[in-house]
Order: sequence, then structure tokens, then C-alpha cells
Amino acid sequence: MAKKQIKSKQRVADYGEVYTNDREVKAMCDLVKDETERIDSRFLEPACGNGNFLAEILTRKLGVCKRKYKRSPLDYEKYSVLAASSIYGVDILQDNVLDCRRRMFTIWDKQYKAVCKSMCNEQTKEAVKFIFSRNIVCGNALTLMTVDENGNDTDIPIVFSEWALITDSQMQRSDYTFEQLLKEQEPDKDEQLSLVSDTPSDEGIFLKKYITHYRRVQKNG
Ligand SMILES: C[S@@+](CC[C@H](N)C(=O)[O-])C[C@H]1O[C@@H](n2cnc3c(N)ncnc32)[C@H](O)[C@@H]1O
Repeated sequence: MAKKQIKSKQRVADYGEVYTNDREVKAMCDLVKDETERIDSRFLEPACGNGNFLAEILTRKLGVCKRKYKRSPLDYEKYSVLAASSIYGVDILQDNVLDCRRRMFTIWDKQYKAVCKSMCNEQTKEAVKFIFSRNIVCGNALTLMTVDENGNDTDIPIVFSEWALITDSQMQRSDYTFEQLLKEQEPDKDEQLSLVSDTPSDEGIFLKKYITHYRRVQKNG
């Protein structure tokens, strides 16, 4: 049965909230199939709703992790964290953001249990929850500011963390404002801004940088 695409007429009128069906989600992801199947390719959806596109991308990336690393639980764990850390979303409605984070974690956790079984580690699960809490942001993608529970802009800009594995187990987090990231990507006049990028950000403009074991990224709140 097709999933419900509308929560209320009011939300459609106020926020244009109409969820995309699975079939269209899959067809659109197929347009950039190779990127959806690259573990560390970065995706950002600036009106992510409850995560229809982000969930599909995560599922595809985890499928690749499983194919490549199912016989090595530690490698699967590390690369599945990297896959989770490469996916970003913004939505103006708090319930969508909470649903999206939960949904992403549930997908990740189910695969983690299936592949790593008794090797599953509680700290890693907390790390992934933390990554989703940073990557899926409640904000206004037009003003680039975070919003309060009523969808009104605050005076706090949206900040994204860029995650990178810099050694076998060390993960580097660099924080950038959304505004800065967009300035770097300014498209030519006739070109659309790409949602897919593997270009690392300019080293000069990050707000903060942290390096920890990937299982402990949550220690740098
Ligand atoms: C057409 S729905 C798409 C949802 C999801 N991407 C999907 O395809 O199922 C548009 C989404 O944009 C969100 N939205 C509307 N205005 C926004 C804004 N200024 N910034 C961020 N999100 C916004 C709505 O809350 C809604 O979830």
C-alpha cells in the first residue's frame, strides 16, 4: 500500500509538505546511482521531511558496506559509521526532524545488529545517534538559520559537521556554517546547485575541529 503523502491540509498550505512516494524516491536516486552507492559521498537534502530520500540513500550505502565488509565486523562498523556521517538534512518542522533522525538510526541499527551480531558496541550506537542529531537539523533552508519549535527563525545559524576518517579509527569533525558551505559552492549563473558533493571544504573557514576515535565522537558535544 502506498504511504500517506500528506499529514494535513494546513501543513501543505503552510510548508508545502507532501511526502514523495517510494517509487519516485528510488527512481530519482537511480539518476545518481553511483553516488548513492559510494560509502562516503556526501548528500544534503534541504527540505528532507521525515527522510524519504535520506533513508533510501543510507540503505543503499549500508548495502555496499555489507557486501564489502560482512566478514569483518570491525570494518563493517567503521564504514557504516562513515556512511551515516555522510548524509545531511534540514527541515523546518521539528516533528519531521525527530522522525527522520529516528528512522535513520533504526535503519543503521538494524543492519549493524544483522552484520555485527554479538560484536555490536553500545558506544558506537551512541556515536551514530549523535552524528544523526548533528547532521539532521531543524532549520530554515532559505534563511540558513535554525528554527524554534514553532518554525520561527532563531539567531543561531545552521552549522554542519564534516566528518572524515583520517586514520584507521580516528574521525575528524570540522564544523562549518551552512552559509559558508553554500558560498564555496556558488554555481555558475545557469547551473543548478548540486546536492551531491565529494569536494572537501576549504581548510581555512571551519568553526571548530575535533579528532576522536569514531566510537567517541559524541564526547565532543
Ligand atoms: C514537499 S515536502 C518534501 C519532503 C521530503 N523531501 C520528501 O520528498 O518526502 C517539503 C518539506 O520541506 C519542509 N520545508 C518547507 N519550508 C522549509 C524551509 N524554509 N526550510 C526547510 N524545510 C522546509 C517541509 O516541512 C516539508 O517537510
